[in-house]
Amino acid sequence: MLKPIRYAEFCTGVGGFRLGIEASDVKTESVYANEIDDNCEKTYKKNFGVGFDSKDIFEINPYTLPDFDMLCAGFPCQPFSSAGKELGFKDSRGTVFFKLLSVIEVKKPQIVFLENVPNLVRHDKGRTFRIITEKLVNAGYTVSSVILDSTYFGIPQSRSRIYIVGLRKDTYGERLVKFTEKRTEKTSFRPFIIRGDRSIPVTERWNEYIDYYLGIKTIEEMSFEVPRTRKVLERVAANCDLSDCVFQVRSSGVRALSIDSPLPTLTVLNSGGGAHIPILSKERRHLSVNELKRVMGFPDTYDFTAVCRTDAAKQLANAVCPPVIESIFRNIMEAIGYQED
Ligand SMILES: C[S@@+](CC[C@H](N)C(=O)[O-])C[C@H]1O[C@@H](n2cnc3c(N)ncnc32)[C@H](O)[C@@H]1O
Repeated sequence: MLKPIRYAEFCTGVGGFRLGIEASDVKTESVYANEIDDNCEKTYKKNFGVGFDSKDIFEINPYTLPDFDMLCAGFPCQPFSSAGKELGFKDSRGTVFFKLLSVIEVKKPQIVFLENVPNLVRHDKGRTFRIITEKLVNAGYTVSSVILDSTYFGIPQSRSRIYIVGLRKDTYGERLVKFTEKRTEKTSFRPFIIRGDRSIPVTERWNEYIDYYLGIKTIEEMSFEVPRTRKVLERVAANCDLSDCVFQVRSSGVRALSIDSPLPTLTVLNSGGGAHIPILSKERRHLSVNELKRVMGFPDTYDFTAVCRTDAAKQLANAVCPPVIESIFRNIMEAIGYQED
């Protein structure tokens, strides 16, 4: 293995893999990044000083790519997500995996490091995951995989994701990666709140809803007709103090979440737009972008000012959690016996 470890990112988003890899103490070099979304590129460039190859991945000719030791990709998860229609490989985004496979077959990196939603394992009665594993094995890799929950990596969000790692069989034989499953206990949201950060205020309507849920106003005192899905809280977490909780707004209803637990998975659906960013009841405001960064394990210094806050929230909700990537990357380095000079 050449040093530093040269890696290429695909479906780069805003660089969650890069943040995690750079946070490890291993000498690495980013040699290529591909991502189709121009807004993601604005954020990536602001933080890493370089842009991407912004081609559609299907337009890439693998023979023109620079050499790299590791390929990383959190490929689109909507085709496999239980929230989506589960079309899998029938959805053209599902076939991004096959495009990645063609890059892997040509470039033969020593390490393949993939991320997706855990539903990938159950999708199409396990067939999708079996195909992915088989294709990687046939391409010459020994495959290890694990489902990890970010809340055990110091992140105040319960976010389960599957991580798949392939190590080249002709270099590393049957060696599997031993994944660290927990680096911390479950992480509660409370210490991550930035008290008084009112950068995204709630609307007048939401101020009234909060009065209503806290029992300050009755339904008759509301200045507007309360829709059916907002009349009662859809769910209230067991240890939840409504006057100091997080309201998660969904189309089906509003949930009250305890801040003394991890928050549930941040998704594009519940992150997008001012109205759907979770609300902190005590301060009558939405979580700020700075708090959403913490909920995803991004460093406070990561800069989202190149895009509007709706895009920032979406980019975060789509990202990988860097501390989990860092942990797995360290596990991979242990598996291959990588030694710093
Ligand atoms: C789940 S997100 C990955 C986010 C990334 N891991 C991060 O930490 O920010 C999938 C990404 O794949 C990109 N993508 C989807 N189809 C693509 C294509 N055909 N070509 C290039 N990128 C694509 C999307 O724009 C999206 O940013």
